[in-house]
Amino acid sequence: MIEVAKRLQTVEEYYFSKKLREVNLLIASGKPIINLGIGSPDLQPPKKVLSAISASFENPIAHKYQSYQGLPELRDAISRFYKEHFSVNLSSGTEILPLMGSKEGIMHISMTYLNEGDEVLIPNPGYPTYQSVTKLVGAKGVLYELDAANNWMPNFDALEKTDLSKVKLMWVNYPHMPTGAKPSKTVFEELVAFGKRNNILIVNDNPYSFILNDNPTSILSVEGAKDVCLELNSLSKTFNMAGWRVGMVMGASEHINNILKVKSNMDSGMFYGIQKGAIEALKCSNMWFATLNSVYEERRNLVWQLADALNCTYDKEASGLFVWAKLPAYLKSEEFIDLVLKENHIFITPGTIFGTKGEGYIRFSLCASTEVLEEAIARVK
Ligand SMILES: Cc1ncc(COP(=O)(O)O)c(C=O)c1O
Repeated sequence: MIEVAKRLQTVEEYYFSKKLREVNLLIASGKPIINLGIGSPDLQPPKKVLSAISASFENPIAHKYQSYQGLPELRDAISRFYKEHFSVNLSSGTEILPLMGSKEGIMHISMTYLNEGDEVLIPNPGYPTYQSVTKLVGAKGVLYELDAANNWMPNFDALEKTDLSKVKLMWVNYPHMPTGAKPSKTVFEELVAFGKRNNILIVNDNPYSFILNDNPTSILSVEGAKDVCLELNSLSKTFNMAGWRVGMVMGASEHINNILKVKSNMDSGMFYGIQKGAIEALKCSNMWFATLNSVYEERRNLVWQLADALNCTYDKEASGLFVWAKLPAYLKSEEFIDLVLKENHIFITPGTIFGTKGEGYIRFSLCASTEVLEEAIARVK
């Protein structure tokens, strides 16, 4: 038997990869499972995106290798998008690198900046990939705790009291997944100041800013942020294009060049038609966001009813593609979701997959139609 690399012994198979096998077995055995677990948008991308990819097939260059840095036209579209929606100026030539999803960027940034033994600040609760990628590159994750009492924002006083000498990078993700907490300008300013004071690269992972959020913001809008910050963004949720795999990293040209050194050794450019589609998506008017959010708003009202029926509490001010709900005090997340899966055939994500601070919480996805959500409510009632 060929032994796997040591790095693989540090990580587990992704929770959803394992749990969905179990859920699929239940479906195969005839159980009518409602899946409110994963955040994979079920709505369609803008029509002009689909026309753009179809039209691209006629172009003879479509099937060739593409530039490692993406089409200049795509970087221009990202630059205009950031200017229009976040009031951030980015040079399309040097400060933007298109990616195949922001998840890919988490690996590239980690490979670019982390040596074995370097420490990385990771939110608890938070997106599990920050932790697993940190382990894969041999660095050490140091969890920083987020609490509802502090609106799930970092506690800078507590952080400054810890030994930060080995910390090289900090993952932040605002608007926050799974809690939906929205950042204030002050929090972004504090993050930039914290990064500068402690010589830490702050990376804001920002894929949810357009979902049920009236005020999309970018950490790069803070004065001087480019000195110590990068931002990841993605078309997955904003334009219902999760399967297309389009994301981007933005920041100072020096950082972008460093990341390009890793990325250009890993892939050979993004498919031309996908880039053409992405350009069209980024040109969407505000009507797109209004229409998208009216669907999510309706669904969220139903998910709130479902959460009520399950005796959970939640924050009506939260944003994003999920409802983060607190269980009654005596209940454990995983036991609870297993029970609901068994009794009601509804799959909900346990908060614990996002870290120990997710204990006592569950996360509902809004990626299900109103009919499905009404059926879920009926089953629980
Ligand atoms: C916080 C966070 N970051 C990144 C991603 C990955 O997004 P993408 O599809 O752009 O790779 C997700 C997806 O669920 C996420 O929740």
